[in-house]
Amino acid sequence: MATAARRVASFGTTIFTEINVLAQQHNALNLGQGRPDFDTPPDIIAQLVAALQAGQYNQYAPGPGTPSLRRAVAAHAARFYGLEIDPERGVIVTAGATEGIFAAVLGLVDPGDEVIVIEPFYDSYVPNILMAGATPVYVPLHPPQWTFDPAELRAAFTPKTRALILNTPHNPCGRVFSREELACIAELCIEHDVTVIADEVYEHLIFDDARHIPIATLPGMFERTVTVSSSGKAFSATGWKIGWVYGHPDLVDGVARAHQFITFAVHHPTQEAIAYALSLPDSYYRGLKELYEHKRQLLLQALDAAGLPYRVPEGTYFVLADFSPVFNGTPLEFARYLISEIGVAGIPPETFYCPEHSHIGSKYLRFSFCKNDETLLQAGERLAKLAIRRR
Ligand SMILES: Cc1ncc(COP(=O)(O)O)c(C=O)c1O
Repeated sequence: MATAARRVASFGTTIFTEINVLAQQHNALNLGQGRPDFDTPPDIIAQLVAALQAGQYNQYAPGPGTPSLRRAVAAHAARFYGLEIDPERGVIVTAGATEGIFAAVLGLVDPGDEVIVIEPFYDSYVPNILMAGATPVYVPLHPPQWTFDPAELRAAFTPKTRALILNTPHNPCGRVFSREELACIAELCIEHDVTVIADEVYEHLIFDDARHIPIATLPGMFERTVTVSSSGKAFSATGWKIGWVYGHPDLVDGVARAHQFITFAVHHPTQEAIAYALSLPDSYYRGLKELYEHKRQLLLQALDAAGLPYRVPEGTYFVLADFSPVFNGTPLEFARYLISEIGVAGIPPETFYCPEHSHIGSKYLRFSFCKNDETLLQAGERLAKLAIRRR
């Protein structure tokens, strides 16, 4: 009987599936998956409806993406970061950032190469690296500040290192890497001639005075970085799965070669709507920041009431909360307990680490605050029971 290929045989079901199923069974408030439970702004939806009815966008889009969206991605990079991107040869539109990262790994990394991954990592990175026949090399962020040790980072570079995947703002830690941290990564990548795959899907979810700095803007980095982002987080449209990769045409060429044989082209009308969305005025992006600062506050208040310490996230819509004051066990055990006894779901971060490093995240659970205020307030009431039980 035919069985799964060796390439995928070790891949389990993602933790998100298990938590979603459990949350449903127990009718828990789901603060697990980073999936907004509110809708995409109506004007962006109206653009999609108009594109669907325009009679010209319902057949295959150009493989690299529609000219309108490629121009919008380039204009957005110029407007927010001062980057000069060639919309013709420097942008590829993909099926979400997920495909963008996969196409970047397949298109820029050879079998036998090593790829540095910062832990905790987004769950598709390692399977992508393995499917490309390369080897992941892990560098952990250390709590409670969730920073990397520059000596550990330096030690991860070898003559085989081909690429480093960098996620800032960082899921699940909520870190926005500082210029000093980025300069340290950049210096090592330049010294070892390494490509950076920069996953910046949370680029517009930054709070207070934090500033998102794309590593591509650092001296000497543009020509060795491909930047991946998507419309899911910035426009509360995770279901639309429109992402993009941009950078120096020589690197984007590698990504394009892989992309053409993965999806070839992605959903056409949606690209028109996202071209509109990316061009929204600054007031849209300010409103998004304010919306999420408020939601972050609601979740942090809930964690305070529950007696769970955390580091205040300066970006993304996630918080890693330390459950050790209220529970003795693994994150998965705590997640199951929290769902069945308290009625709130969060994500245990074990699967965001290699087995040797999973102890680093062993007292944390990830909560997301991309939820209606009502859901966050109710979650606060339920989580407060943790503090009462502790007394
Ligand atoms: C760090 C990170 N990268 C990539 C993605 C995937 O983005 P998309 O939905 O655009 O494929 C996510 C989604 O949660 C994410 O958190």
